[in-house]
Amino acid sequence: MSSPVLGIMTLYLNEHRALEERSIYRRMILEGRKRGLDIYVFTPADVHSGGRQIEAMVYDQKKGWSREWRTFPDLIFDRCRIQRNHRFQQLLAFRQKYGHLLFLNRPLRNKWTIHQTLSEKPSFRQHLPETVLFQDMSDVNRMLKASSLIYLKPINGTGGRGILRVERISKEPNTVLVQGRDQKRRIISPRRVHLSRLGPLLQHWNMKDKYLVQKGIQLQLPNGRVHDYRMLVQKNGEGKWELTGCAGRMGAEKSVTSNLHGGGQAVAMERLLKQWIPEEELRSEVTATAGKFGIDVATFLEDTYGALCELALDLAIDKNGHIYLLEVNPKPAREVFARIGERSIYSKAITQPLEYALWVYRNRSEGSEGIVSKPSPRPVTKAARMKRGRKVR
Ligand SMILES: Nc1ncnc2c1ncn2[C@@H]1O[C@H](COP(=O)(O)OP(=O)(O)OP(=O)(O)O)[C@@H](O)[C@H]1O
Ligand SMILES: [Mg+2]
Repeated sequence: MSSPVLGIMTLYLNEHRALEERSIYRRMILEGRKRGLDIYVFTPADVHSGGRQIEAMVYDQKKGWSREWRTFPDLIFDRCRIQRNHRFQQLLAFRQKYGHLLFLNRPLRNKWTIHQTLSEKPSFRQHLPETVLFQDMSDVNRMLKASSLIYLKPINGTGGRGILRVERISKEPNTVLVQGRDQKRRIISPRRVHLSRLGPLLQHWNMKDKYLVQKGIQLQLPNGRVHDYRMLVQKNGEGKWELTGCAGRMGAEKSVTSNLHGGGQAVAMERLLKQWIPEEELRSEVTATAGKFGIDVATFLEDTYGALCELALDLAIDKNGHIYLLEVNPKPAREVFARIGERSIYSKAITQPLEYALWVYRNRSEGSEGIVSKPSPRPVTKAARMKRGRKVR
């Protein structure tokens, strides 16, 4: 019997067909081979002749990377990240046209929709920082009255781009400190701004319906750097959600975000948490609660949006040990575990989706058009979202 075929779908980064995560894919291909899983990499731009032929990228230890004409894979692992260009439009068309195929994971939604969806579940609400969708400056002013620190974040942002931190200065009434990163991820140096000047300052950012106004969590360590945690949850070889690992991240100096690509540093979770919460008992309670929360969130999002095989949660933990969910990442990088020297977690992070793919293949159901994938069990309509209202805690 021939091996099941897994197609890793990604997007080229430019016109020269550059790929990100090539080394991860190489490892996946080699690990797949050991497990009887035939893997190739492709992008929607490589699909020809009405989908019958794919100009796939294959890897061989002797030959390295090469191109090969292949037919459609049995399973698709969607690793495409948002881009603002024609390649992303091509991806949307692909997902639409070939939606009946068997996907390990379906796309998630933007940060605002995810926030609203998670707010539906009462047990999650305590872990969601108060958040509204930016309509006008009154949202910012209201949130700044209730909380001395807020974050403004694009609903479709990644890598810390376009994130602003606004903090009231306690000794100077009506004055705030604004800092962050621009769309190109460059650090915006801190500036003191009178509240009446904040609106004009933000005007050219075009935030309406595109930004979240979120309560900020104080995450500055004694060395002045911010920190948070990256938790990776994945489906395992038995089709169950499992916590693969959790690592700390410490932002670069003067950065309001902890992202590694913005100069952040990876630190083992225990080490970071020990600096932050001295009580051992509270630390183990927090770790256990975070782990359970991660699995619950993944389960709930899969129930809502259809197939998922991995998620990374960005978690903030305040001084009292309260856990906040800052963001859910559907296309997580794994390098944080390599950087802290957790080799076995790093390896597992790479092989777990392959084990899961084999499980999905074994348990697939044959439809009239070949293999079909589980549809979204609870589609969330725009009308339903509107009904839920704009302001959700
Ligand atoms: N409400 C908040 N309070 C405190 N810090 C925050 C808050 N929201 C975001 N941050 C900081 O900014 C970082 C980036 O935020 P977020 O994850 O929402 O955006 P992102 O650009 O999608 O990041 P990435 O794609 O790299 O995960 C967080 O990891 C955290 O360090
Ligand atoms: Mg994030």
